[in-house]
Amino acid sequence: MYTFLPENITPVKQKVPKEQKPLIGAVLLGIFLVISAVVSWCFYSVSLRKADRLKTELLFLKKDGFVILNHQEKVVFRMAFQSGVLDLDSCAKYGAILSCTRSDKGPLKFFVQTVIKDKATVMCYRVRWEEFVADTSIMHTMYWDNAYWYGGAEMRTQHWPIKLSGYQEPKPFVTGRFFGGILESYWLSSNATAIKINASVPFHLGWNSTEKAFFFEARYKDSPYKPPPGKPPFPELSYRVCVGSDVTSIHKYMVRRYFNKPSRIPSESAFKFPIWSTWALYKANINQEKLLNFTESIKKYQFNYSHIEIDDMYSEYYGDFDFDPVKFPDAPAMFKKLKEDGFKVTLWIHPFVNYNSSNFGVGIERGLFVKEPSGRLPAMVQWWNGIGALLDFTNPSTKEWFQNNLRQLRTKYGISSFKFDAGETSYLPNQFSTYQSLSDPNMYSRRYTEMADQFYDLAELRVGYQSQNISCFFFESSTGIPIGDTSWG
Ligand SMILES: *[C@@H]1O[C@H](CO)[C@@H](O)[C@H](O)[C@H]1NC(C)=O
Ligand SMILES: *[C@@H]1O[C@H](CO)[C@@H](O)[C@H](O)[C@H]1NC(C)=O
Ligand SMILES: *[C@@H]1O[C@H](CO)[C@@H](O)[C@H](O)[C@H]1NC(C)=O
Ligand SMILES: *[C@@H]1O[C@H](CO)[C@@H](O)[C@H](O)[C@H]1NC(C)=O
Ligand SMILES: *[C@@H]1O[C@H](CO)[C@@H](O)[C@H](O)[C@H]1NC(C)=O
Ligand SMILES: *[C@@H]1O[C@H](CO)[C@@H](O)[C@H](O)[C@H]1NC(C)=O
Ligand SMILES: *[C@@H]1O[C@H](CO)[C@@H](O)[C@H](O)[C@H]1NC(C)=O
Repeated sequence: MYTFLPENITPVKQKVPKEQKPLIGAVLLGIFLVISAVVSWCFYSVSLRKADRLKTELLFLKKDGFVILNHQEKVVFRMAFQSGVLDLDSCAKYGAILSCTRSDKGPLKFFVQTVIKDKATVMCYRVRWEEFVADTSIMHTMYWDNAYWYGGAEMRTQHWPIKLSGYQEPKPFVTGRFFGGILESYWLSSNATAIKINASVPFHLGWNSTEKAFFFEARYKDSPYKPPPGKPPFPELSYRVCVGSDVTSIHKYMVRRYFNKPSRIPSESAFKFPIWSTWALYKANINQEKLLNFTESIKKYQFNYSHIEIDDMYSEYYGDFDFDPVKFPDAPAMFKKLKEDGFKVTLWIHPFVNYNSSNFGVGIERGLFVKEPSGRLPAMVQWWNGIGALLDFTNPSTKEWFQNNLRQLRTKYGISSFKFDAGETSYLPNQFSTYQSLSDPNMYSRRYTEMADQFYDLAELRVGYQSQNISCFFFESSTGIPIGDTSWG
């Protein structure tokens, strides 16, 4: 601004009177205070926005994990990112989806999606972590905290709730290799939280009991899981965590959402009365006379019975569908007698066809077996009764052929049902090809149970994976669990 000053007046620097100094000090202080208030407000609102950006409903995301609060605002679920940390600057929130695009290792696709079922009772969060590096491993650590946990796999020593000791590096979560024959990637806690690992994950489970934590790992490297056909070996870890107001509502919700129910009910007698097995008394050393003696004794001592199960070694070769004529010289007469005495009979069955069974040739001709990788020859596998081919139940023709043979046995002798032994992924060879690709080897067990479901009335199975809607009894096995005998506590 232009200031007019008369020529004769030379401006003198006016001295500030002494009494005005405190006033200026106060003004400066005031300005300073205003500035610092504005600055701190800016910081506060930025961090608030950031905190808000990293929060979705009651889930709070940090670079190295997340926590979830329950309706009472208590922390009930903690997960740590073990294999990498998020770059929080790459995170953004759009509606119910909180996503990040970078980790310390490079680009990734990460998101948490809120799926509100019923805000008052159940809140769910879908979490997915995907990397674009071949053969990498993604690991998240879930803390048990002080809750009791249920679910997972059948173990050698079965505790309820889960009680694990020591340290275990992540093992393939597949039937019969390290874990037992019955498993589900679902856990439920006494704090009314539940987690279901998505079926698409090449899932490995480990733990450290000192840390009170499970390791959830996704990887294709050194694993029986294979990427889906035509897909690169980029592992992806995805799961759904749900938090409820109480254990019952959360479990009910998870069961409704993820598990189908059986549609039929097995025979009532199997619930009420004992199943008698030749294995208990004679092991594999059975014949017609022994069997009839056995049922005579059961009657003589007036024991109740649901049915009698004819176990291992009734056929000449493993893979045959008939009785060894030497051991069972008159099978029709034997079945007639058993029927008169009111015994229903089930027969031991397995998915192997040994090379000296006549069905071995039939299976090769019709392409019924699991094959070696080239897909030409059957892959030979060793099982506890020798060497044979493994029936490929991902092939509808195999399923039909096998079921037809079982149905014929049923009509011929009046057999009620079967005890379906084995079926674990541990009997699949390391390298193989099947009719439908088995990127998740557990699907082999699942297909086996689907084949058996038709005989549900008195059937027994020893493997289960996503088999909640299979209407059969499942039995606990010692050989289905790789390390020795089982005990349930
Ligand atoms: C979680 O469950 C444990 C054991 O049931 C209990 O002691 C603890 O208080 C629970 N925590 C919360 C936050 O509810
Ligand atoms: C879960 O797996 C299915 C395939 O089994 C896939 O289509 C889906 O995208 C997966 N969900 C998440 C959240 O990754
Ligand atoms: C298990 O966790 C404890 C406590 O954090 C730790 O000291 C120990 O090294 C862990 N064990 C292994 C084998 O990583
Ligand atoms: C069957 O029972 C009879 C009479 O109890 C007995 O003499 C015979 O040795 C038994 N046979 C077998 C194979 O156990
Ligand atoms: C057989 O079952 C009935 C009930 O149906 C029971 O009363 C009886 O005690 C049982 N007999 C034996 C020997 O267990
Ligand atoms: C069939 O093969 C098995 C070995 O897998 C052998 O132990 C058995 O003796 C053979 N049976 C006959 C009748 O040759
Ligand atoms: C069980 O449920 C699955 C869907 O998860 C379905 O594909 C299958 O056909 C059902 N099996 C039986 C025996 O009901």
